[in-house]
Amino acid sequence: MKLILLGAPGVGKGTQAQFLTEKYSIPQISTGDMLRESIKTESELGERVQKVMESGALVTDEIILDLVNARIQQADCKGGFLFDGFPRTIPQAEALLQESIYVDHVIEIILPEDDIVARLGGRRVHLASGRIYHNLYNPPKIKDIDDVTGEPLIQRDDDKEETVRVRMQVYRKQTEPLVSFYKTTSADEQYNLKYSSVEGVGTAEQIRDRIFAALSN
Ligand code: AP5
Repeated sequence: MKLILLGAPGVGKGTQAQFLTEKYSIPQISTGDMLRESIKTESELGERVQKVMESGALVTDEIILDLVNARIQQADCKGGFLFDGFPRTIPQAEALLQESIYVDHVIEIILPEDDIVARLGGRRVHLASGRIYHNLYNPPKIKDIDDVTGEPLIQRDDDKEETVRVRMQVYRKQTEPLVSFYKTTSADEQYNLKYSSVEGVGTAEQIRDRIFAALSN
């Protein structure tokens, strides 16, 4: 199974990815997580990436495509994968088609902007594992501590309200056009692609069930 999770920042892509990767035994390919890993290396590339991410803008297509192309060559992607936060621009989506990388299903999650700001404001993450919490909606057992490792959780630099608003503008301008791109692609039989939109309001489990239902149709 090859899947794309599409949606604005904070709609719950990472949260739903955890359910989907378990159900289909496929790896999650989160370009955001990969970029955060590259920042940790303190390389020149990592420094450039950090500045872009902190501003709320997108990293260049070239960097992203290099990262993704290298990742999908790895053995664990043979049986499929889940793209989370990729593609994010029309050129990224076109590059996949040009390289004959076809996905089975694109799932779009939709959520109002005020809910997004509330979700991102309370988000805490365990960087090493990618585990995601929320102060109110999905709190860890001990405040700001990862349930599994006991290590501290962090708040992402780009989760400040003003940066979230910038990320939303960037989403509308550069990523939302992918909605019509994939709807058009799914109407073309040669691609054998399904497209589903799922309402993102409700508990994580309710949204999971909507996505599973869309995938089994
Ligand atoms: P990235 O890391 O991909 O961030 P994003 O797409 O902005 O998405 P988020 O991770 O913020 O949110 P999410 O939808 O995964 O929500 P989550 O499940 O965590 O990208 C970061 C940056 O990297 C970009 O700005 C860009 O600079 C760069 N980048 C990445 N990919 C790129 C690309 N392809 N091209 C160019 N640049 C790229 O949930 C959010 C919160 O809500 C959590 O606290 C969670 O616990 C809570 N929550 C989830 N579901 C529910 C629910 N149902 N009810 C209540 N709370 C919930």
